[in-house]
Amino acid sequence: MVVLKTGPVPVGGVVLENHLVLAAGVLGTTGSSLARMLSLGAGGVVTKSIGPVPKDGHDGPCLAVLDDGLLNAMGLPNPSQDFVAELAPLAKKPVVISIFGGDPEEFAAVAGWFAGTAAAFELNLSCPHAEGYGAAIGSDPALVEACTRAVAQTGLPVWVKLTPNVTEITGIGRAAEKGGASAIVAINTVKAMRISTELRRPVLGHGFGGLSGPAVFPVAVRCVYELYEACRIPIIGCGGVSTADNVIEMMMAGASAVEIGSAVYRDVKIFETIKASLYAKDGIDPAGIVGCAHG
Ligand code: FUM
Repeated sequence: MVVLKTGPVPVGGVVLENHLVLAAGVLGTTGSSLARMLSLGAGGVVTKSIGPVPKDGHDGPCLAVLDDGLLNAMGLPNPSQDFVAELAPLAKKPVVISIFGGDPEEFAAVAGWFAGTAAAFELNLSCPHAEGYGAAIGSDPALVEACTRAVAQTGLPVWVKLTPNVTEITGIGRAAEKGGASAIVAINTVKAMRISTELRRPVLGHGFGGLSGPAVFPVAVRCVYELYEACRIPIIGCGGVSTADNVIEMMMAGASAVEIGSAVYRDVKIFETIKASLYAKDGIDPAGIVGCAHG
């Protein structure tokens, strides 16, 4: 397997401590859990998504553990502006704040609360099961461009997390780029459902939800590959990454770094495990493999 040399990783306006970033939604709801993931080897962390008003989320069950992934419909539960206080102990750390809103004005308002505390923002334009938010607006290139522009006006780097649940993901990536994004994150979860044959009803309270984990890795690789050919800004690969070889494959498709979520749910020490196989002092320059599968 290809092995990389160690060193800081500048990507999308943030200097990461390594190529591995905690994805939004897993252990990202408190300052202390975010600090813990940094201490357990994450090169950067993304918070749980924060929105314009507090939200309790969908009725349960909100999570189903499947053989090859996780199916969730949390419903974007979050404390809204109260979350600002959680971040005080993390000043100057590579903490990216995931935010959502229903329109550009709401995105700008939420971003404004965090000016001075964020290393960057990640725009959740991709949650597949939050009516009026996420993919509901992130499937429209004009809205993606407008929301990105509204947050870019803070002067902080903006990462835009894309939905795979569209016919043509490259058009959405280009819209984010046009709006002033510093990076694209691909992908959020794949819209999915399971039904309990015993109960004769969907296993999730919300009915459908978002699938993550190894089952979606090939979808994520395909999206990163297509975006690399369509966009110039860096891409952060996300979706089912659970091994060092998965990281290398994502990078060969075009990712400059990767986010890891579901694998953390299974093993909180996954960052150190992957780093042990991914890096060596005599490893190669990572820039040499980003996008190399494109010939
Ligand atoms: O429901 C949730 O909180 C999930 C968000 C997402 O998939 O972006």
